[in-house]
Amino acid sequence: MATDHTGITHAPGALPIVGHLVPLLRDPLRFLNTLPSYGDLVQIRLGPQRAVVVCRPELVQQVLLHDRTYDKGGPIIERIGNALGDGLASCPHSAHRRQRRSVQPAFSRTCLREYAAIMTEEIDALTSSWSGGQTIGVDAQMYTLASDTIARTLFTAEAAGPAVETVKECLPDIFRGIYQQAVFPPLLRRLPLPSNLRYERARNRAWAAVSKTISLYRQDGETHGDVLSMLLKTQDDTGGGLSDDEIHAQIMTLLVAGIESTAVALTWATHLLCQHPDVQERLRTETADVLGTRTATWEDLPRLDLARRVITETLRIYPPGWILTRTTTTESRLADAVIPPDTTLIYSPYLIHHDARFNPRPSAFDPDRWLPEQQQVRGAFIPFGGGARKCIGDNYALILATMALSTIVARWRLSHADLQRPHIEPRVTLNPHKLQVRVSGGSI
Ligand code: HEM
Repeated sequence: MATDHTGITHAPGALPIVGHLVPLLRDPLRFLNTLPSYGDLVQIRLGPQRAVVVCRPELVQQVLLHDRTYDKGGPIIERIGNALGDGLASCPHSAHRRQRRSVQPAFSRTCLREYAAIMTEEIDALTSSWSGGQTIGVDAQMYTLASDTIARTLFTAEAAGPAVETVKECLPDIFRGIYQQAVFPPLLRRLPLPSNLRYERARNRAWAAVSKTISLYRQDGETHGDVLSMLLKTQDDTGGGLSDDEIHAQIMTLLVAGIESTAVALTWATHLLCQHPDVQERLRTETADVLGTRTATWEDLPRLDLARRVITETLRIYPPGWILTRTTTTESRLADAVIPPDTTLIYSPYLIHHDARFNPRPSAFDPDRWLPEQQQVRGAFIPFGGGARKCIGDNYALILATMALSTIVARWRLSHADLQRPHIEPRVTLNPHKLQVRVSGGSI
């Protein structure tokens, strides 16, 4: 293990040519968790590319808060930009403030309240379609819930239906492709491998479907009370709003950033409740009191306290956005190290959430650590990132997840259908693959 002249430690175990690609593809979480033992700033190699992993909460905060110096960039962001266009999640600092101002109104409290009514309908439809004794594929069911709800929030017009279906079909290949393309060396990215071809095809189909929806909205000229109408209206009203390409990129970004992460969070929460029947029972006591067996609504949220803490603890243990990148635009100082311009930095909510120095007993599922009287280390809980680039959909996701989880528990008892732990598939999000759960005791 070596520390270079800039003060950055090099992680051991890099192989010629591929660097740390093997552990990063095979068991990235374990690999990440070994890094803090080498230092606060640890360099790893992805093939020929180098990246510095930031291993302390206060240094991660410094990176997140200085978004001009530590701009969006690095392999994952480049791939997201390539897949979705330069939307909110991948655009550079120079375009970000204007883009964020245009999209932010769609996530106001008034809008969230309206979206909550759509969420209630979708949660009701899903949870009443199950029958007692049935085994459900939770990952697929939560994906359906998140995609139906988010797609309806973005475009409600009936004419957009077929495009929504196409995008939903394409998204899994897009998610898988973005991660693979980010970790593959450039040469492998360009080869006509089946996975590369699947990704290209899915990306092009989704792209065309969103374009078609935008032109349908333009043609009918109506306001549908959804995010797309709002973005088009901003453009018309201000003249200086978003271009058509930017609107396209925003819609793709909201679909991709919103659906999978929310679905994944709900799937992990279900898994944890199966693993911890005591917490599930406590949650049932709360939901029996607040909901009986009806579907949760916006008005119930203040009283669904334990449900909210279960979701928070789930996001700590399994943060869907587990690895994120930045690029330095100038030379900068982080801790005692000098970081040259054009350096890729990695911050990992997973790594920070699982470091016992900042989150004691990191493997324990303990929703009560989020009770107001418990002390937290500043910056040690970052499932939504931070600073100006913090997730725009954080409240949306928390509302949907809290309402969905409490309704599920109010209506059904959950247990693992097989003994196997769900297989973790780290893609752009930390994915629980094929989680089978038995639902019983239907009471509606
Ligand atoms: C549990 C669910 C979610 C998690 C864990 C999550 C996580 C994150 C994280 C970590 C970031 C920051 C990325 C970075 O620092 O590079 C982010 C940004 C973003 N998220 Fe989320 N997200 C979730 C749900 C959503 C939803 C529901 C939407 C929209 C419908 C959304 C839209 C976005 C957008 C547009 C950005 C970019 C914001 C900007 O740069 O201004 N996310 N998300």
